Amino acid sequence: MNNPSFSTRIIGTAFQKPDAHGAITLPVYRNAAFEFADSETIAAAFQNRINAHTYSRISNPSVANFEQKIKAASGAESVIALSSGMAAITNTFFAIAGAGSNIVASPRLFGNTFSFLKSTLSSFGVEVRFVDTGDLQQIANAIDENTCAFFAELVTNPHLEIANLPEISGILKAKKVPMIIDTTLVPWCAFDAKKAGVDVEVISTTKYISGGATGTGGVIVDYGTFDWTANKKLAAMPEPKDISRFTFKLRSEIVRNLGAYMTPDTAYMHALGLETLQVRYEQMSKTAYELAQHFSSHPKIISVNYPQLENSPYKAISETLFTGNPGAMFTFNLASKADCYKCMDSLKIIRRATNLFDNKSLVIHPESTIYSSFSPEIKKIMGIEDNLLRFSAGLENVEDLKRDIENALELV
Ligand SMILES: Cc1ncc(COP(=O)(O)O)c(C=O)c1O
Repeated sequence: MNNPSFSTRIIGTAFQKPDAHGAITLPVYRNAAFEFADSETIAAAFQNRINAHTYSRISNPSVANFEQKIKAASGAESVIALSSGMAAITNTFFAIAGAGSNIVASPRLFGNTFSFLKSTLSSFGVEVRFVDTGDLQQIANAIDENTCAFFAELVTNPHLEIANLPEISGILKAKKVPMIIDTTLVPWCAFDAKKAGVDVEVISTTKYISGGATGTGGVIVDYGTFDWTANKKLAAMPEPKDISRFTFKLRSEIVRNLGAYMTPDTAYMHALGLETLQVRYEQMSKTAYELAQHFSSHPKIISVNYPQLENSPYKAISETLFTGNPGAMFTFNLASKADCYKCMDSLKIIRRATNLFDNKSLVIHPESTIYSSFSPEIKKIMGIEDNLLRFSAGLENVEDLKRDIENALELV
C-alpha cells in the first residue's frame, strides 16, 4: 500500500522471522541466551558476520520487534530500546560525551535528567552550559569546538514551554552540533521530528507508548541525519555499514556495557501500547484542552497553562509543530502551595501519583515531589514554582473530570 497511515504502519510491522505457529502478535522471548548449531556460527554471530541474537542484554527478538515498530512510526534509521527513559538519556550521552566536552542545554528539564547532566556527567569531566532556548544568540554563543550536543525537551515538563526547533536547527547545522531532543511529551502522530531538524530523539516509553503505565521503558531514535565525524569521540572509528557511528557505538559498546537493554516483557507491552498510541493521544489531548479551556476563567485559579490556549505564548509554535495538538499535560497555578495541597487532596477521580499519560488521570505537586531534592536556587534556575499543580488527562469521561476538579476547587 502507498503511504500507509501512522497506526497502519505500526500495526502492520512484520516480524523479523515468521512465528512457527502463525501467532498474530510476536510472542515474548523471555530467554536470556540463544543456542547455535556449531562454533563457527556462534563466532560469526558474536563478530557481527551474521545477523543473530546471542544474549538478551544485547538484543532479543521481542525487543527487536518493538524497535521495528518504532522505526515504522517515526521513519527513523535506527532505534534502540532500553529499560527506562533515563536509560535512553544516559546511554545517549555516554556514547557522545567525554572529559573536556560540553553539552549546551535548556535548564528546563525533568528532575533526574537535570541531575544526570549536572551531577553525574560533570563528575566525568563533561560541562553543561545552560541556555535560554528562546534566545538563539545565546545558543550560538555557548557552542564551541568541544560542544558534543544541543539538548532540550520538546515541551518542557512541567512548564509547557516549546522551543522553536526549526530555527535552532539552522544554528546547529552551521556549527555541526547534533540536536538531541527529549520528545516524550509529543509522539510522532502529532510531531514530525525529522522535519523539525531533530537528529536524535530520546523518549520515555513509560508515558504515552506503554499503553497505560504498563512498565518503564525508553527509546533512542536515530534519524541518521548527523555526520558524527564532527564528534571527537566518534571521529576515529571506521564508518559502519547501514547505521550511524552513534548507533554503532551504542550497540557495540555502550548499551551492552551499561546493561540497561529493554526486557522482552516490557517490549511486548509497549509494542501493544504503540498500536493504540494515536487514538489514546488524540483523546487524552482533547480532554486536556477541554479541561484547560473550561478552567481558564475559574476565580480560584491564577493561571491555567496549556500551549493551545489563546493566551499562551506558545500557541503559534504549537500550531506549527504539533498541528495544534500539544498533548495531555496541563498545569494550574493556584494562590499558594497550601491551596495546591488542598485541591489535590480533595480530588476523588484524579489520582495523586507521579508519571504522565497513564490511561488514568493523574495529579502531582512537582515542587514538593519530583524536584524536592533541589535547592531553592536550583529550583529557580529550573523554573519550578511551589504554587503549581501538574495534571495528566487520562481516558475518563471529560465531564466527570470537570466535576472532580470543580468540587476540589470549591474546598480550596
Ligand atoms: C520528559 C521526561 N523525560 C524523561 C523521563 C524519564 O523517564 P523514565 O521515568 O521512563 O526513566 C521523564 C519521566 O517522568 C520525563 O517526564
